[in-house]
Amino acid sequence: MLIRNRRLRTNEAIRSLVREIAITPDDFIVPLFVVEGKNIQEEIASMPGYYRLSLDLLKKEVKELWSLGLKSVLLFVKVPENLKDNAGSEALNPDGLMQRAVKTVKNAVPGMLVMTDVALDPYSSYGHDGIVADGKILNDDSAAVLAEMALSHAKSGADFVAPSDMMDGRIFEMRSLLEDEGFYDTGIMSYSAKFASAFYGPFRDALDSAPVDAQNIPKDKKTYQMDPANRDEAVKETLMDIKEGADIVMVKPGLCYLDIVRDIKNAVNVPVAVYQVSGEYAMIKAAAEKGWLDHDAVMLEQLTAIKRAGANMVASYFAKDAVKLIS
Ligand code: PBG
Repeated sequence: MLIRNRRLRTNEAIRSLVREIAITPDDFIVPLFVVEGKNIQEEIASMPGYYRLSLDLLKKEVKELWSLGLKSVLLFVKVPENLKDNAGSEALNPDGLMQRAVKTVKNAVPGMLVMTDVALDPYSSYGHDGIVADGKILNDDSAAVLAEMALSHAKSGADFVAPSDMMDGRIFEMRSLLEDEGFYDTGIMSYSAKFASAFYGPFRDALDSAPVDAQNIPKDKKTYQMDPANRDEAVKETLMDIKEGADIVMVKPGLCYLDIVRDIKNAVNVPVAVYQVSGEYAMIKAAAEKGWLDHDAVMLEQLTAIKRAGANMVASYFAKDAVKLIS
């Protein structure tokens, strides 16, 4: 034998020398759920160890994240039922929860990169990402409101807006409005290849945002989110978003879509993000709770795989756990 692959696996010193991928705190975007109230830290039932936080505790949390070397957050809000409608009115409230959350983070940790979710679902009485008419999601009307929503976040101090709605043309609408209003430096991280996935369940519990029709019957988002069976279309969507002005593109969910991540990484020259979603988090937590899987080992293996597939960054509920382990 002239070649023995095991030579490079003999001990940790040589293994670490030839290792191709390392996870660092720089890789993470930390998703955070915000609620109204004071001193509130509510555990999300289907996301053990993950919480909805009121603004005072959000302030504490981001200081802790910063001390761990985590420098980017992605904000989501849980909107009180009485403020939901079919127009996204509350999403545009300059003093709404998201707008206050952005300011809270910026005041607490000025260096923290603040990204905001842009989609109507937490604000929608139907739980849909856009405006609903006769059971259909109106594309262009929705995109117009979403652009206004992005502008409102920019005015509150968001560094990046992160449209997760999957309406056509919304990146163009958003970029154009931000430019017109002088927000040249506000970036757009587009959820470009976002699939109609069953892995979002726990997130919808967290925000009470599951899609329903007028009779309160559960619906899906398949007329705007992508078919999990489609690979070429993911690249097409992503290239369109880049043309429309996206600074960062995203694939979501993570683990089941790593082939897409690699396709996109090979096809684009902008940073690629991956969202390791709520259901991926829940699966690991549940299996670990049962004693069936080694929590930390599986978590790091999945994060490594996401990065190896081509992700330049990952939005993950494991950010804190992972960073504590690797530091
Ligand atoms: C909604 C949105 C969703 C997620 C992020 N933004 C859910 C959905 O599309 O229904 C999912 C994130 C997760 O599951 O962790 N625009």
